[in-house]
Amino acid sequence: MDTAQNYNTKIVKQFAIATVVWGVVGMLVGVVIAAQLVWPSLNFDIPWLTYGRLRPLHTNAVIFAFGVCGLFATSYYVVQRTCQVRLFSDTLAAFTFWGWQLVIVAAAITLPMGLTRGKEYAELEWPITILIAVVWVVYAVVFFGTLIKRKVLHIYVANWFFGAYIIAVALLHIVNGASMPASAWKSYSAYSGVQDAMIQWWYGHNAVGFILTAGYLGMVYYFIPKQAERPVYSYRLSIVHFWALIFTYMWAGPHHLHYTALPDWTQSIGMVFSLILLAPSWGGMINGMMTLSGAWHKLRSDPILKFLIVSLSFYGMATFEGPMMSIKTVNSLSHYTDWGIAHVHAGALGWVGFITMGSIYYLLPRLAGKKEMWSTRLINIHFWVATIGIVLYITSMWIAGVMQGLMWRAVNPDGTLTYTFVEGVKATFPYYVIRFSGGLLYLSGMLLMAYNTFMTMRDTNGVEARIPSFTSPSTAHA
Ligand code: HEM
Ligand code: HEM
Repeated sequence: MDTAQNYNTKIVKQFAIATVVWGVVGMLVGVVIAAQLVWPSLNFDIPWLTYGRLRPLHTNAVIFAFGVCGLFATSYYVVQRTCQVRLFSDTLAAFTFWGWQLVIVAAAITLPMGLTRGKEYAELEWPITILIAVVWVVYAVVFFGTLIKRKVLHIYVANWFFGAYIIAVALLHIVNGASMPASAWKSYSAYSGVQDAMIQWWYGHNAVGFILTAGYLGMVYYFIPKQAERPVYSYRLSIVHFWALIFTYMWAGPHHLHYTALPDWTQSIGMVFSLILLAPSWGGMINGMMTLSGAWHKLRSDPILKFLIVSLSFYGMATFEGPMMSIKTVNSLSHYTDWGIAHVHAGALGWVGFITMGSIYYLLPRLAGKKEMWSTRLINIHFWVATIGIVLYITSMWIAGVMQGLMWRAVNPDGTLTYTFVEGVKATFPYYVIRFSGGLLYLSGMLLMAYNTFMTMRDTNGVEARIPSFTSPSTAHA
């Protein structure tokens, strides 16, 4: 068996620290745009700081910088541990780190400049899109190369989820990224009209399914059993829900295009597959939660476990709400309103944010060669501050969203609209203030994590990573 020094922990450390740094940046931009919705003059009339440019900066920073760096760190750690071999190539792994940081910096410069393809979550212009494709293919080579040279016969389920996420993202990115360059920083989509919309939301929804879901389920299946010191509740269920999830997600995209020029039957397929999606999603949630059977008491004293388990409850919440919102009649109320924003952030802050934070808290002390984080108390405070932040964020946006939907559709007996649009905006104002304060709390928690990370990692150069002896979470369970 490879020993700890034979694993490439440097790359894991680099990505783990990048996750924390980009988390702070991405959430800070989130708080800024939340503030701009309350006080629009906060753009100071500077084009770089306008809402339309900072919003994609926020989404790109939290998803591709914070979120994907977290996935790089954990997938590189987990694949080495569960395959009991060092990464396929240190050089290629280092290329993925520096290449990905270059993508992030390029995004941080070009988006505020207003350079965009205009496709949500695929805004980056063609030179950066090509760079992403190259880094991603190298990532696939490193990950699957490691799987191929593994020393254990079995491929642990977390790797199936990471593997599916890597393959699907390559496919989505390359198909939706196809464009015709018109100049160095301007390109046009290879598709037009309704086909373009369909491809875009096939991409968009599967970005949710494979980045914001499958990759993080990889974390669930490794870090929850490890932190809880319990085997996965049902290994069989993990395999069944893997196949069901990846098959179903691919068809659900049209629920983003209800009541559009997209053929009606296509919208209905999107709706039906979204409803089916509830089952595998909850299968995964229940499997993760039940892994704690016999160890529930640990939740009281272990804040890392709190992050990991509470993330699953938000996952359950978002994957119940999503199928409901995909029902056409419900969507006619929710679409265009802040209800969507509540749904997004229940998933983003509660699920993606918490599972990442829990997993990175698990990793950091091991990468620093220490027993635990510098301060467990700070992790606990982080957990509670962030939880209150999420609750303020999502409840205010739920109320605002339903209120907006109802106000927009209210009609007088003579058929005229009861409310002007601006009356709806005015009524939303207090909820935007509440969302801003929720966001501020969530960001404060992230700052505590950054401080705790700094204190844990300082003076650790040259210290050997303390990776505990290997037991695959699966080996303890049939
Ligand atoms: C069973 C699972 C899920 C289903 C069926 C689902 C369904 C939906 C629906 C119907 C919408 C609104 C579309 C619209 O009216 O435009 C939506 C939006 C969204 N959902 Fe989900 N959702 C699910 C889980 C999740 C999870 C776990 C996340 C994680 C963060 C997430 C992130 C998003 C995002 C980012 C959007 C906004 C897309 C946009 O318009 O920019 N969803 N989802
Ligand atoms: C401090 C924390 C955060 C704050 C204050 C915040 C705030 C915001 C705001 C104000 C918007 C624009 C809403 C609108 O256009 O009406 C937004 C959009 C979005 N945020 Fe965040 N955010 C935070 C964290 C995150 C995180 C951690 C993620 C993902 C992991 C995320 C993902 C998104 C996405 C996907 C959208 C676009 C939603 C859509 O188009 O439907 N946010 N956020």
